[in-house]
Amino acid sequence: MRYIPEEVKRKIEDLRELIEYHNYRYYVLADPVITDEEYDNLMKQLIELEKKYPELVTPDSPTQRIGDKVLEEFRTVQHSEPMLSLDNTYDEDQIKEFDDRVKKTVELETVEYVTELKIDGVSVSLRYEKGRFLLGLTRGDGTRGEDITENLKRVRSIPLRLRKPIDIEVRGEVYMPVQEFERLNNERLEQGEPPFANPRNATAGTIRQLDTSVTRARNLDSFIYYVLYPERYGLKTQWDALNLLKDLGFKVNPHSRICKDIHQVIEYWNEWIKKKDELPYWVDGIVVKVNQFELQRILGTTAKAPRWAIAFKFPSEKVETKLLDVTIQVGRTGVLTPVAELEPVQLAGTVVRRASLHNFDYIVEKDIRIGDWVYIEKAGGIIPQVLYVDKSRRTGQEKEIEIPESCPMCSGRVGKLNPEDVALRCLNPHCPAKLKRSLVTFAARNALDIKGLGEKIIEKLVDSGLVKDLADIFYLTPFELTQLGSGIGHKTIANLLSQIEQAKSAPLYKIITGLGIPMVGEKTARTLARSMGSIDKIMGATLDELTQIPGIGSEIARSIREYFDNEKTKELIKKLKQAGVKLQEEHQQNKQTLAGLTFAITGVLKNFSRNQIEDLIHSLGGKVSDSVTKKTDYLIVGENPGSKLSKANNLGIRIINELEFLELIKVEAKNHQQQRLL
Ligand code: IVH
Repeated sequence: MRYIPEEVKRKIEDLRELIEYHNYRYYVLADPVITDEEYDNLMKQLIELEKKYPELVTPDSPTQRIGDKVLEEFRTVQHSEPMLSLDNTYDEDQIKEFDDRVKKTVELETVEYVTELKIDGVSVSLRYEKGRFLLGLTRGDGTRGEDITENLKRVRSIPLRLRKPIDIEVRGEVYMPVQEFERLNNERLEQGEPPFANPRNATAGTIRQLDTSVTRARNLDSFIYYVLYPERYGLKTQWDALNLLKDLGFKVNPHSRICKDIHQVIEYWNEWIKKKDELPYWVDGIVVKVNQFELQRILGTTAKAPRWAIAFKFPSEKVETKLLDVTIQVGRTGVLTPVAELEPVQLAGTVVRRASLHNFDYIVEKDIRIGDWVYIEKAGGIIPQVLYVDKSRRTGQEKEIEIPESCPMCSGRVGKLNPEDVALRCLNPHCPAKLKRSLVTFAARNALDIKGLGEKIIEKLVDSGLVKDLADIFYLTPFELTQLGSGIGHKTIANLLSQIEQAKSAPLYKIITGLGIPMVGEKTARTLARSMGSIDKIMGATLDELTQIPGIGSEIARSIREYFDNEKTKELIKKLKQAGVKLQEEHQQNKQTLAGLTFAITGVLKNFSRNQIEDLIHSLGGKVSDSVTKKTDYLIVGENPGSKLSKANNLGIRIINELEFLELIKVEAKNHQQQRLL
């Protein structure tokens, strides 16, 4: 072990303790004493140190936790044996040539093969020590792979403990089942995100998520098919290896077969061309492996692939059709996705009318034009995509596809977030296509923290037309919310409205964060709030004034100016002000909506504790009395009311329930507003 200075060890331990403490504050007490950013910073320091001194990493380090944002990147690890890929064959002649080569090399008349399904996923290598899952790697460049151990722990079919306490390294395929792929892509389409082109991309995108909770949420599965150093376990054949894997508790594909010769291999291939669509996962061919390890050793490998195995791919289902037009979808993240409108054509069981063109770079790269005859294929059997153009059929009448200069939804400016990005995006923060996403940002914990405003409600609010911009949420009434229909009960509504009410007095930086100004995250929002003190000041600041603020460079300043110069922004800010949202830093009292009014409360309230409702009334300038008297203006009634109810009845005092109370706050707020404007 190399020398590591004591202070490094101490620093690591201190960091771990500190992070654990803040974890506790945050997750256990829900009472953080540092900002997310400060927390992330500590974690970053620890990750950095652990990366430098991997020998000091312990399983109990906070970096090992399940959770978001813990990993900064994947470390790479040397494979104990290179991870090769396979050569491909596509027809019977090619597979027979393979068989001939094999037979010639091993000098045998016939060779026995194991045939396996070729799973369309991502290959991984798993290391176990004393039967415990220690390390999981991607293929990487074949020599070094990325350590995705934590994500692989979220693939439930990968055992964390084997049924025998042995040291072993195995390889196999992690894949996304058909159903999960469809679910995920539907979800992405709904959210305006580009769907994954095929299950392999979806798996690769999931397994390499730095946030392990994403992997856990997407039900990946696995098939293991390869044992490293099989002689250590007395294995003579691939078939034995598959059996050992099964015995150890791995998931092994049940459709593998021993084939006595290449004819049986071809039979297997033909069988599965017919049956492949019945499987709950995608296979794009079969893998043919020489069964005897002894023979495998004689055959050896090339730099890229073994000579003892080969992929025998299924014919892909492709069809030619005419590209009639290209339309553009604007997703919730503002991504502009070109969609091919096709002359309807039958493909793999369905009529295809539209297909993905991925992005505008793809169109340029493949030189796709309107009027072209294009080949389409269903990626992973599902999502049709345009593969290439049949240029021989061009007439000269084809039209070039224009790359949009403005957003088709809002005419906003479009561009790439960075030069490597393939996606073209609408840059207008007020683009209606992005409203749902903006509302999520607005309601997020680091912004206005409106917990009741989750994705589902946002979906309904926007779809129903009740909310057309961020400020509209402050104008929602209980009546409107009950109209949203199923799934939103009174309790939810009352909670939501009270949270929205409280959000009006959120600190300025949280409101700025929530606006989603391009390039302005929480940190910059804090800086802005601290140095400018109010939205009005920020709106009035020149580029020069903005760049003078430490931490705000010219690009951010320009983005801020651009945001506030937008007419929509000006309207939005006006509406927020009118709704009573506090848009300045100094502690301003809540509007005294209930000034002069006295409330009494009886019975059990569904949505507030007594303290909560009393605090709310007080914060709005009202009074709460313990008993009902002539001076009481309102009695708020919950379940099982006490004697106060009959007393209020006798005195003719107005009796309201919780929802009516919330309605009252709104009405009073509007009255105040009008008075102020007059
Ligand atoms: S054997 C040296 N068996 O196909 C051993 N690979 O195109 C090579 N694959 O990288 C792998 N199912 O990711 C093998 N039953 C199977 C497979 C399989 C899918 C993948 C694997 C490999 C790729 C080659």
